[in-house]
Amino acid sequence: MADSDPCAGLEDGPWVLAHLGQSLDGRIATASGKSHYVTGQENIVHLHRLRALADCVLVGAGTVAADDPALTVRHVPGRNPVRAVIDPMGRLPRDRRIFTDGEARTLVLTGTVDGPGERFVLPARPEGIAPADILSALRGLGLSRIFIEGGGRTVSGFLQAGLLDRLQIAVAPMLIGSGVPAITLPVIDSLDSALRPPCRIHPMGADVLFDFDLRKNS
Ligand SMILES: NC(=O)c1ccc[n+]([C@@H]2O[C@H](COP(=O)([O-])OP(=O)(O)OC[C@H]3O[C@@H](n4cnc5c(N)ncnc54)[C@H](OP(=O)(O)O)[C@@H]3O)[C@@H](O)[C@H]2O)c1
Repeated sequence: MADSDPCAGLEDGPWVLAHLGQSLDGRIATASGKSHYVTGQENIVHLHRLRALADCVLVGAGTVAADDPALTVRHVPGRNPVRAVIDPMGRLPRDRRIFTDGEARTLVLTGTVDGPGERFVLPARPEGIAPADILSALRGLGLSRIFIEGGGRTVSGFLQAGLLDRLQIAVAPMLIGSGVPAITLPVIDSLDSALRPPCRIHPMGADVLFDFDLRKNS
C-alpha cells in the first residue's frame, strides 16, 4: 500500500484504530440517531477496507440499537472480522442482525450473563467497563487488529483511555446543527491541553479524512 493510502501500515498488528464519519459541525447522527449517511460512498468503501484488514470490529450498544449494522465486508473483497459490541446492561434485543445473520462470530462485552451472542462478562463500574479490560479480553482471544467503528461515546472512551493508535475522522461538508456528538472529552481550560497529534489528510470523494497518529503523541 502507498504511504498516501489511509490504510497504509495496517497489514500487520497489533493496532487499535477508531473511525468516525462526522459533519463539519462535529455530529455523527441526528438527535434521533439517523446516521445514514453522513459521509459519501468513498468513505463507506474505506470503512469496508478497514473491516477487512481488522481481526475484530468493535462498536457500542448505541450503534447496534440505532443502526442494526451487519458489520460485514461487502464493498471490497476480504473476510468478515469477528464482531464485538459493548453492551454493559445487556439491553440489546436478540433480533439484531449481528446476532441472527450467522455471517461472523459475534462477541458481547457485558456486565450481564443473560442475552444473545458469545458473552464475556467484565467488571462494569458506574463509569462503565474499562476500555483496557475490553482490549485485554479481545487480545486474549487472539484478536490483535481492532477497528472501533463507533459511535462517539465508544470512540471517545478509548481515546480518553489513551488506547488508540490511530483515529480517523472523515469530515463531510454538511451541517447537521444538532444531534449525536463525535468526540467528547473532559473539559480543558487551555488550548495547550488540546490534542494535536501528527495527522495525514486524505481527500475522500467530497469528504476529507483526517488520520491522526496517536502513537507519536505520547
Ligand atoms: N457517523 C458515524 O461514523 C457513526 C458510526 C457509528 C455510529 N453512528 C451513530 O452514532 C449513534 C450512536 O453513537 P453513541 O455515541 O450514542 O453510542 P455508541 O458509542 O455506539 O454506544 C454507546 C454505548 O455503548 C456502551 N459502551 C460503550 N463503551 C462503553 C464502556 N467503555 N463501558 C461501558 N459501556 C460502554 C454503553 O451502553 P449503555 O448505553 O447500554 O450503557 C454506551 O452508552 C447512532 O445514532 C449511530 O447511528 C455514527
